[in-house]
Parts: sequence; structure tokens; C-alpha cells
Amino acid sequence: MSRRPLIAGNWKMHLTLDEAVQLAKAVATASAGCSDRDIMIAPAFTALAAVVAAVKETHILVAAQNVSWENQGAYTGEISPVMLKDLGINSVIIGHSERRHIFGENDAMINRRLRAALDADILPILCIGETLEEREAGATLTVLESQLRGGLEQVRKEQAARVVLAYEPVWAIGTGKTASKEQAQEVHAFLRQFLEGLYEKNIAETVRILYGGSVKPDNIDELMAQPDIDGVLVGGAALKAESFKRIICFR
Ligand code: 13P
Repeated sequence: MSRRPLIAGNWKMHLTLDEAVQLAKAVATASAGCSDRDIMIAPAFTALAAVVAAVKETHILVAAQNVSWENQGAYTGEISPVMLKDLGINSVIIGHSERRHIFGENDAMINRRLRAALDADILPILCIGETLEEREAGATLTVLESQLRGGLEQVRKEQAARVVLAYEPVWAIGTGKTASKEQAQEVHAFLRQFLEGLYEKNIAETVRILYGGSVKPDNIDELMAQPDIDGVLVGGAALKAESFKRIICFR
């Protein structure tokens, strides 16, 4: 089964409106010849509308960095699935480690967000990953298993096929310390196996699993060469057109 590669840039809390539009246009130009892969950028909420407009005639996907589980109501600071759809946004990052560790989001909240995205027909990228402490304690797979179980609770088989997973070891995010290709492949293969147990083989083979954590121009090729790595979620290196271009054009 061949899964379509997905290269995603998470812009986090960076870039003003003008900077975001400029970078979006540069990404569109950089990826013009690459129709065999999905390219996605995730700007901050403030830049979503402008970025959607800037890449309108291209095949670039624009994602939000979070979404509420409610469609409307008294939820100060939240953005709903309906609001995202209204802007033409069809994908969203959910459960990023910064949401989990800095803002205290737990699996139950993440699961509600994920199900709301699926119900609204928005493609969710569910992020999971262990901390350094958990890895050193030999708890990596148990932690991932529990994040996956919690995140996917009540998600039916037909819906699960539409989820994208992102394995982002917390110790590799923004640290310049990438998981080795072997470490990443081992975890990705485990996650696929786990999905097979949770759902079925067909689902496990359909779901794309991205790697994230210090992905750079000089490690993209070896990561993408792994059989269970279907794409990457890039932070820092997605903020410069030049480096993101090299990542998009992995060989
Ligand atoms: P870095 O690529 O900066 O390590 O960030 C990874 C990440 O958190 C993407 O979501």
C-alpha cells in the first residue's frame, strides 16, 4: 500500500501577517513541481484567512494549530470547527506537545477536539510523543499507547482512516536533537501495529504517520526513506523558505 507523503510546516506562534503571506507564497513557488506529495502549512490563527487567499490557486493545504470541540458558545479564546471551515480550512493540528505540556491539554480534551474535527470533515493531525524522562525510564511505548488510546477514543473505523498521526518525541522538538532514523522507524512501526490491533490492517496501512522533532534539510532524506515514515511535521526549518523547500523536495 502506498501512502501519499505529507510534508507539513507548523509555524507555531511566529510571523506577522505580511511575513506569513510572503512565506506562504514562497512555499507555493518552491513546491510547484511536486504534485506527488501533499504540502501543508499551519500559520497562527491571525494569518489563516490571508494565507488561504495567498495559496488559493495552488495545491498547498492550510491547517490551523488547534480547534475547539464546540461549534459556538461562551468559550473565550477558542476557535470552532465551523469558523475554520468558514475560512476554507480543512485540516488542523491537535494535541501538539506544546498544547499538552505548556497549556495542560490532556487526552480527554484532545479526543474531543479530534472528534469535533472529524465530524466537521476537517483532517486532524493527532500529535503524540514521549518526554526525555519517559524515554529514559523505558516508558516510550506505554506512553504512546496511552496517548493513542485516549486520543482515538470513540473514533470509529471509518473515521480513523482519515486521521493523520504525528510522532513528535518531546525531547527532539526545537532541541536540534533528532530521533535517529532507526529510533523513529521503530516507533512508527509500533504505532502502525497498534492501530492494526485497535482497528484493522487496512486502517493501519492507510493512516499516514508523520515524524516531527528537529527535521532539517540534512536529515529529511534518511527519515523519508524509512518504510513507516510517511511525512514530517516541521517547526523551525519550516519558517525559512529555503530550508522548507529542501525538505519538501526530499529525495
Ligand atoms: P522543530 O522542527 O522546531 O523541532 O519543531 C517540531 C514541531 O514541534 C513541529 O510541530
